[in-house]
Amino acid sequence: MNHQRRRILIRSAATAAALAALGLPALSARAGNEESAAAGVDVHIELHAVQDKVAIRPGEQTQVWRYRGKLLRGDASALEAWAGNYLGPIIRVRRGQRVRIDLINALPESTIIHWHGLHVPEPMDGHPRYAIAPGERYVYEFTVVDRAGSYWFHPHPHGRTGKQIYFGLAGLFLVSDEEEATLDLPTGPHDLPLVIQDRTFDGDNQFVYLSERATGAASQNPERGGMGHGMMGGDMGDMMGAMGGMSQMMARMMGVLGDQILVNGRPGASLEVERRPHRLRLLNASNTRMYKLAWHDRSPLTVIGSDGGLLAAPLQRDYVMLAPAERVDLWVDFGRWTAGTELTLQSLAFEGGMAMGGMMGGTALPDGAPFPVLKLRLEGGTRRSVMPPQRLSQLQQPQPRAAVNFNRPKVFNLTMGMMVWGINGQSFDMLGASPLETVRLGTHEVWEFRNDAATGMMGMSMPHSMHVHGLQFRVIGRSVAGEFSRQHDTVKAGFVDEGWKDTVLVMPGERVRILLGFADYPGLFPYHCHMLEHGDTGMMRNYLVKA
Ligand code: C2O
Ligand code: CU
Ligand code: CU
Repeated sequence: MNHQRRRILIRSAATAAALAALGLPALSARAGNEESAAAGVDVHIELHAVQDKVAIRPGEQTQVWRYRGKLLRGDASALEAWAGNYLGPIIRVRRGQRVRIDLINALPESTIIHWHGLHVPEPMDGHPRYAIAPGERYVYEFTVVDRAGSYWFHPHPHGRTGKQIYFGLAGLFLVSDEEEATLDLPTGPHDLPLVIQDRTFDGDNQFVYLSERATGAASQNPERGGMGHGMMGGDMGDMMGAMGGMSQMMARMMGVLGDQILVNGRPGASLEVERRPHRLRLLNASNTRMYKLAWHDRSPLTVIGSDGGLLAAPLQRDYVMLAPAERVDLWVDFGRWTAGTELTLQSLAFEGGMAMGGMMGGTALPDGAPFPVLKLRLEGGTRRSVMPPQRLSQLQQPQPRAAVNFNRPKVFNLTMGMMVWGINGQSFDMLGASPLETVRLGTHEVWEFRNDAATGMMGMSMPHSMHVHGLQFRVIGRSVAGEFSRQHDTVKAGFVDEGWKDTVLVMPGERVRILLGFADYPGLFPYHCHMLEHGDTGMMRNYLVKA
């Protein structure tokens, strides 16, 4: 057993002891992991979290933090670097494969990777308490049990997830399976991942996150730089200085918005595509910005998948809402437009979003006006009419009556109190010393996220993008308070609630019910708002799956 390996085991033993002290079950998954490591894996990848420079705009290169992948075992197709892009590699695996991924932290501060959307044993999930220091290695090993779909990975250190993703750390984890392979979906160059983010560059072409740049220097206060216990958690004077005043503090809580849209790491992105069917895998990897996506000519969008893979059948939408961390798979036949067409994917105006004019320190892209996201030039190919497969997947209707609390959903109020985000009035607490949300392994529950008007800050309500680790859930109901219904009307036709989800947008005044099943893995998993600054400043809690 090498040194790093041993270090990880010690770390997990310490965590087990801490859990035991709280009367929580020991985590058997990690011990099991040790044995199967010897049995070999199908894919072995090293991911180095590094500082780097990339050319994003003309002129000076941009300092970024990124994942650099190295394939140690498995088909070459398992790892694809994105040339000229700060985004992490695309990992492509088949359902059922056993993967080992070593995270090597070459950053100036601690980090950990979370596999967003994947159903993995708790020590593999990237809970913030597993964050490793600079120079350390964390070994992940798990079997991919999820359906074919577009999952992703990103850092998850306590209080600093927003900054680390903003500096560039994020990658895709695409799973294929046999069911998907029987469909004649576009593949290869016609299967296009599109990662949408927003960034602000300073005069030197650098990303600025609040007042910090992605330079080589360690942040002054790596372990508490995030102030993850909420705005009042640290020394107020210190904090104000570090963040350069009130507007920084507001952005720190309300969310960081960029004034330029980047697709696959490129501002003003434009792509040339062939006039034939394509699959577009859209991921909103922005910190806080949500999008209302539509073709500029208002051709309907054909949705074939969401967070947890394919839908039962394709759906038509005039637009789709995409909140931070949500994914949507579109099927589009570019053959229906004439050669030479320039097609624009836009974000349309809506109400009730985060990017209110002026509020966020003058973002150039408010929610109240449309802006382009991606331009596509349609070339070659032939004009013909192709339909997507009309049956995509065996997808059962959700069975809410199977829930142990069908008549009494667990209620999660999304709250703001004393300038601290919370859930039911409580903010994140790494090891769950305050009452934990406890569920039983092997059961189903109904949860309801409530974004009630009274919880808004200074009379305003904000949307939240609620994400639950460790599983995929189904959305089984939405309702909205009367006074919010008019603004809700500007977004509601864009929800894709039909498939498996791991993240759901909860608009101001809205209540969203989800059905969750807790299978296979006991342990402590986070759930939180994926508007990253909300999560980093308190809107995150643990739930405990008890064996
Ligand atoms: Cu993608 Cu806990 O997050
Ligand atoms: Cu997640
Ligand atoms: Cu939020």
